[in-house]
Amino acid sequence: MSEVTFPEGFLWGGALAANQSEGSYLAGGKGLTTVDMIPHGAHRMPVKLGQEKRFALRSDEYYPSHDAIDFYRRYKDDIALMAEMGFTVFRTSIAWSRIYPQGDELTPNAEGIAFYRSLFEECQKYGITPLVTLCHFDVPMHLVTEYGSWRNRKMIEFFSRYARTCFEEFNGLVKYWLTFNEINILLHSPFSGAGLVFEPGENPEQVKYQAAHHELVASALVTKIAHEINPENQVGCMLAGGNFYPWSCKPEDVWAALEKDRENLFFIDVQARGAYPSYAARVFREKGVEIAMEPEDAATLRHTVDFVSFSYYASRCASAEMNEQNSSAANVVKSLTNPHVKRSDWGWGIDPLGLRITMNMMYDRYQKPLFLVENGLGARDEINADGEINDDYRISYLKEHIQAMGEAIADGIPLMGYTTWGCIDLVAASTGEMSKRYGFVYVDRDDKGNGSLERIRKKSFWWYKQVIASNGRNL
Ligand code: BG6
Repeated sequence: MSEVTFPEGFLWGGALAANQSEGSYLAGGKGLTTVDMIPHGAHRMPVKLGQEKRFALRSDEYYPSHDAIDFYRRYKDDIALMAEMGFTVFRTSIAWSRIYPQGDELTPNAEGIAFYRSLFEECQKYGITPLVTLCHFDVPMHLVTEYGSWRNRKMIEFFSRYARTCFEEFNGLVKYWLTFNEINILLHSPFSGAGLVFEPGENPEQVKYQAAHHELVASALVTKIAHEINPENQVGCMLAGGNFYPWSCKPEDVWAALEKDRENLFFIDVQARGAYPSYAARVFREKGVEIAMEPEDAATLRHTVDFVSFSYYASRCASAEMNEQNSSAANVVKSLTNPHVKRSDWGWGIDPLGLRITMNMMYDRYQKPLFLVENGLGARDEINADGEINDDYRISYLKEHIQAMGEAIADGIPLMGYTTWGCIDLVAASTGEMSKRYGFVYVDRDDKGNGSLERIRKKSFWWYKQVIASNGRNL
C-alpha cells in the first residue's frame, strides 16, 4: 500500500441526521414526519418498508426519534466536541417539518429557521463548513396523509418552496447541499425512503418509479434554484453506495451484478448526467411501469449536480440465482453473503477495497468530484472500570477505509471530503437501536430510552483528532 496523501483543504468531519439526533420532535412548532411514526421493536420493519400503514402514534410503542440524543438542545456542546476533534466539515440535515410543519404552507415557521441559523452560526464560529441534506428520510406526515407523498407531482412544488427558503435563509452560512439522502433507498424501503405506502392491487414498482421521477425533477429544480440564489452554492446527489460483485465469473452472475448496480445507480445516472439512462426504457417495460412526465421535465433534469456524494459501509454480491431466501439486507439493499469479507456484529460486510472499487467505478461513470458522506462501523461499545471506551475495532475499520480512500485519490479521483457516519452516537436507522454505535463520542442512552444522555469521548476521538491534524498522514 502506498503512502496516503490527502490534498490540502481536504474536508474532514462527521455526519448526523436530524431525525436520528435532534429529538424534540414537536418542539418549536415542528410537525410529525414519517420517521416519527416508525417504532422500535416488532412493528418497526413493516412500518418502515411501507407494508403496514401507521398514520397515528400509539401509546404502547416506543419511538426512538422523539427524543433521539437531544441534539436539538445540546447542539452547542456537541459542535464544541466536533471542533475539539478539528472537524472542518459537519454534515447534518434540516428537518423539513421544522421549516414547513405541514409541508404545504406558503410561509415558513420562523422558529425552525432560527434553530438552524443558530446551529450553522455555531459551526461558523469554529470554522466548520456545514454540509446540509435537505431531506434525510423525514417527509412531513401531512404530505403523506393528504397527498400520498412523492407519488404526487405536487410534492415538487412543496419541496422546491422548502429548498428555496433554506437557500435564502442560510445563504452565506451554508454552501454545500445534498438534495435527498440515499435516494435509491426509495426502492428498498419505500416508507422511510419516500413516505410511500401501497394500496391493495396496485403495482408497487409503478408507484416507486413515479415517485422517483418526482424526486429527480425536484432535485434538478432545486439545484437550479440553488445556483440562481448563489453561484457559490454546490449541490450534490447522494447514493447508498457499494458495488455488487458477481458471485462467480459465470456470465449470468456477472450480468446479475451489473443489473443490481444499475438498479441503484439509475438515480445518480439521472442526477449526474441529466437524462434517463438508455437502459431505463426496458427496465420500465419489464416492470410494467409507465412514467407520467410533463413536457418541461427533460429540460429540468439537465440541471445536473456539482458533485456526487455517497455512503459506503460494505460491498454487495449478486448471482443469477439470488432470491428472497438466500439474500439478506445490509443497509437495506439485499445481497448474498460474501464469504471473502469479514462481518460486523450486525452482519454488514467489512471491505475497504470495496470502497476503492466503488469510488473508481463512480468516477469513471460520472467524472464529477466525489464526497464520501457516510462510512463507519456500527458496534457495541463497553465502558470499562476506568470509565473508558477502548474502541480499537472502530479505529481499525476507519483506518483501513481511510487508506482505501487515499488509494482512490492516488488513482486520480477528486475527493472533496470525508464525513464519518454518526460521529456522535445516534439512533440507528435500520433497527432504531442506540446500542448500534458509530460515534467518536459515546451517548449514555439505551435501546429503551433510558440514560443520562451524557457524552463521553471514546479512544477513537483522540485517534481521529490526530488523523485530522496530520491531514490523514497519521493513521
Ligand atoms: C444510511 C443512512 O443508510 O446508513 C443513515 O443514511 C443510517 O441514516 C446509516 O443511519 C447506517 O445505518 P444504521 O441502520 O446502522 O443506522
